[in-house]
Amino acid sequence: MEPFFMALILLAIYLICALLSPFLTSERRCPRPKLPLPPGTLGWPYVGETFQLYSQDPNIFFASKVKRYGPIFKTHILGCPCVMVSSPEAAKFVLVTKSHLFKPTFPASKERMLGKQAIFFHQGPYHSKLRKLVLRAFMPEAVRSKVSDVESLAIDCLKSMEGRSIDNTFLELKTYSFNVALLSIFGKDEMTYREDLKRCYYILEKGYNSMPINLAGTLFHKSMRARRELGQILAKILATRRQRKFQHDQHHDLLSSFMGDKESLSDEQIADNIIGVIFAARDTTASVLTWIIKYLAENPTVLQAVTEEQEAVIKSKGESGKQGMLTWEDTKNMPLTSRVIQETLRVASILSFTFREAVEDVEYGGHLIPKGWKVLPLFRNIHHNPEIFPEPEKFDPSRFEIAQKPNTFLAFGNGTHSCPGNELAKLEILALLHHLTTKYRWSLMGPLDGIQYGPFALPQNGLPIRLFRR
Ligand code: HEM
Repeated sequence: MEPFFMALILLAIYLICALLSPFLTSERRCPRPKLPLPPGTLGWPYVGETFQLYSQDPNIFFASKVKRYGPIFKTHILGCPCVMVSSPEAAKFVLVTKSHLFKPTFPASKERMLGKQAIFFHQGPYHSKLRKLVLRAFMPEAVRSKVSDVESLAIDCLKSMEGRSIDNTFLELKTYSFNVALLSIFGKDEMTYREDLKRCYYILEKGYNSMPINLAGTLFHKSMRARRELGQILAKILATRRQRKFQHDQHHDLLSSFMGDKESLSDEQIADNIIGVIFAARDTTASVLTWIIKYLAENPTVLQAVTEEQEAVIKSKGESGKQGMLTWEDTKNMPLTSRVIQETLRVASILSFTFREAVEDVEYGGHLIPKGWKVLPLFRNIHHNPEIFPEPEKFDPSRFEIAQKPNTFLAFGNGTHSCPGNELAKLEILALLHHLTTKYRWSLMGPLDGIQYGPFALPQNGLPIRLFRR
């Protein structure tokens, strides 16, 4: 045989072996396990199954894996070996029972943008301290003092959308959720800095999903500059509050809670956590509201029932002589509307999953989860499991008339890092729905199917609608 062809054949054999090696050796790349790894494949070297995940609807990717391998399986995405868990028991194990063995994990670029000291990135004593301060500002007692201010923001938001075609409902609702977040963080003070905060935050968030290349002109670079400016604005706000000595006498907003702590946080820790809370509060709530507006338009009987419930709230206030703004008690007397929120959170599952990392080798269900591997509880798969929620794609708020089994409804997470803002989010949504259903009607414009992820699940194009007075 010609040496040239011989060389070609050898080269081809070498390439085939190189390509097949991950399949042949994938188990051996891991720390020598005493127990078997969960079933599944790690895919190609370095890229793993990233292309498979991102070239299709992620839900189809996860669902096909669950069908093939069961509720716990391994894969390899974005350069990391991962274990995906999609049973309520396994999610509880990771998030609650053995949460100390699974630390939160995010890409380094996200840490740089939000700030390394933000609550999401920590566990242990620093996390517990932050959580206590955050919960103090968002517990029901603190949230109830905000009802009328949140309601005023809801009324303003709807007025600003009235009578026009809304190209992107999500974007409009983001303004509302941003304003509510600022209210919960700063109370009604610091108005003068708000526009600057918004301007910088809007630039910062544009970089969240960008390539982390910090070169002049890139989105990431602009975001990092805006992040620095945000730090400076927040430093001015802190200085102003210190002069006014507000920190010792009230704990109704997050900043007071942070500043009033005896072993107080540093300015940098406060800034990182304020930006972190805006990040956690804004797109999530706006995205859920956008889905509710879609589902109500598509389910006229449910819309009618919600409207009647909300009209009854207005009527009962009239009868008791307490006309006017909503009260905390009113918001706790909206059972059907609350079930609509729960069912939307389940069907839309805006946070499809969360990330953790095993801090040591962990055994679960006869399998090894090796130290350093990412572990992803798949909220959406649990919410769409027909054995837990029959006909899971159907929007049916009545399924929440009976209490759900433990660890099956994880819209606000569970355990150590579960959402401390859930009371505020519910109030914010209820206040807007109260005015939306009793004063307005809307029609959906544009494609009705299709989900986009950015990173939260969202109706296609942010749901274009037309909103008009009833
Ligand atoms: C409907 C809207 C919301 C949804 C669906 C939601 C969902 C979640 C989920 C699932 C987690 C846990 C993530 C994990 O375990 O990795 C979480 C954490 C968090 N959320 Fe929310 N959230 C919402 C609104 C809010 C609001 C309004 C705030 C603040 C005012 C907030 C603040 C936070 C914070 C600070 C954390 C981190 C807690 C920690 O690490 O200890 N969220 N949220």
